[in-house]
Amino acid sequence: MTGLKDPKSRLIFALDVPSLDEAVSFVQKLGGSVGMFKVGLELFIKEGPAVLTAIRDHSDAEIFLDLKLHDIPATVERAVQSAAAHNVRFLTVHCAGGEAMLKAAVNGAGNSGLQILGVTVLTNLGPDDHREELGYRKDLTLKDLSVTRSGIAKTAGCAGVICSGLEVVAIRENFNDLLTVVPGIRQNKNGMGGDDQKRVITPKRAIQAGADYLVVGRPIRDASDPKAAAQRIVQEISEALSDTK
Ligand code: C5P
Repeated sequence: MTGLKDPKSRLIFALDVPSLDEAVSFVQKLGGSVGMFKVGLELFIKEGPAVLTAIRDHSDAEIFLDLKLHDIPATVERAVQSAAAHNVRFLTVHCAGGEAMLKAAVNGAGNSGLQILGVTVLTNLGPDDHREELGYRKDLTLKDLSVTRSGIAKTAGCAGVICSGLEVVAIRENFNDLLTVVPGIRQNKNGMGGDDQKRVITPKRAIQAGADYLVVGRPIRDASDPKAAAQRIVQEISEALSDTK
């Protein structure tokens, strides 16, 4: 993981904007300050693969296609084959789809270089959402579920998982070679006040816990100076990395 020595390479900016123009404007602003751009459902459904070309035209950063696939294995395998043709670095699939589906995703990527990340438990879910009628077991905490699903992702051959920063230590203890990619990053543990993320963590704590990558959207997108906000997070990552040396 040599590239990860550069603190900037660990910061993934979520391009959660509704149009190609706005995406390009952020890519131009932040291209030198983040390691990767994440394209999610909002932007990909609106603009399609053209957005990936536009990111490449305006920066050298890598691309993460966050489509969170969850379907029967044959469909997922073929969708991943299509995604692999776009030359992106990461693609997400939901671990809840089961081992056969995750394996199908890994097969679909083949040796294209595309790495599959399994979404363990969405970071907006908190203990109040952990209800039996939704299929959760009361005797299994969200952390236990995240670790169990990480094990399934590992068995299926995924490169890593998306998890909350609160679960990184437990996942790393059990599956040291899985990449951990952490959304729900907030400057203080109470979040931004009123947004949907519940299992949140600061950049510093996430890196100290062993996170490989941080995914940050609104704290950069909605800042008065997005570039300065990204640079502050990279500085925090850098300090946390020196603390853990
Ligand atoms: O704005 P915010 O920093 O909360 O953005 C987090 C990003 O990470 C969003 O694009 C969201 O779709 C994504 N994500 C997440 N939780 C997951 C997987 C991805 O919040 N488990």
